[in-house]
Amino acid sequence: MKMPVQLDEKAFRNALGTFATGVTIVTTRGPDGEDVGLTANSFNSVSLDPPLVLWSLAKTSKSIEAFTQATHFAVHILAADQEPLSNQFAKRGIDKFAGVALERGEGGIPLIKGCGARFQCRAAYQYEGGDHVILVGEVSAFEHDQRDPLLFYKGRYALATQRGEENGAPDSAAICDDDLSHLLQRAYFYLLTPVRQQRERHGISLHEHYLMSVLMASGGKTVDQINDIIGYTGVISTPEIAEALVARSLVQKLPGAVGMPRLWLTPMGQRMMIEVIAAAKAMEADALLDFGEDEKRLLKRLVQRLLAGAERSVDERVGNHMDLLKQITNVRATVGQ
Ligand SMILES: Cc1cc2nc3c(=O)[nH]c(=O)nc-3n(C[C@H](O)[C@H](O)[C@H](O)COP(=O)(O)O)c2cc1C
Repeated sequence: MKMPVQLDEKAFRNALGTFATGVTIVTTRGPDGEDVGLTANSFNSVSLDPPLVLWSLAKTSKSIEAFTQATHFAVHILAADQEPLSNQFAKRGIDKFAGVALERGEGGIPLIKGCGARFQCRAAYQYEGGDHVILVGEVSAFEHDQRDPLLFYKGRYALATQRGEENGAPDSAAICDDDLSHLLQRAYFYLLTPVRQQRERHGISLHEHYLMSVLMASGGKTVDQINDIIGYTGVISTPEIAEALVARSLVQKLPGAVGMPRLWLTPMGQRMMIEVIAAAKAMEADALLDFGEDEKRLLKRLVQRLLAGAERSVDERVGNHMDLLKQITNVRATVGQ
């Protein structure tokens, strides 16, 4: 069918793609009793009373006959971890139902197990919709769980994050809540509270703690190698700090090493670090209690991107960020901090 107005089809698609949707799989039983289904994001709610939903099916779809003749169909709303299932049902010419756990619904239609929500429908109305057919179903049964949904936005899969509550006037602690660096600093400060407490309990200084943290991740490092890793913090290690830890039997030097000795945590040092890490993990788990699994993943991804962006920005403005780390280390070493 020709478009009444001459539209740039790609631009039109892109404009439509700015409307974020969920992702569904719609299933039915074909005329010969075969299972039929496809991925669709054209799903929408229509009416509460009677309970109606709709979706649209391309006339070029191999499933067109099955759906236009069906008495029943089921709409499955996919959860955030069901992207592979979405891809499977968007492919032509394969057995889409291979490996999919099914049960049967009204009219024998296939119902996929383990989706975020599921609506069983009686086929109610069909409308002409250009190169699509609009199918309206009356919902006869439904179920859902609390998992985060899979989204589709600008032609790609996406994850949902919920906005926090708007609190009206900011309290004094939240005055800088628009300042990202300040927010990160505050979160970092609070998250490390149990680590600070553990450190104080064990009588370990910040410098000693940083040195031991590196050795906990991988032992056998020299003081210089340790500084290559933590230099960016400005909290640098020295041979004297290492010696103090050796004297307390928390760190040992690799036997027989000459020059710059290689350092390892002793079993006592390891036990202490395990306690500190456990306290930090417990605090992190507590702080993330209200986050869904996808939100946690998203948060980490965003912070990783922020970090990469910050390193790139330092490279552009100040020079190589690795050089900057070395500069910080050298300045601190000279000042003797
Ligand atoms: C996220 C996503 C949403 C889609 N939405 C629709 C839709 O609403 N209607 C449709 O007809 N096809 C839609 N498709 C395309 C079909 O899933 C795809 O063409 C499928 O291969 C059709 O299978 P069939 O030809 O075996 O029926 C979508 C695909 C994806 C990946």
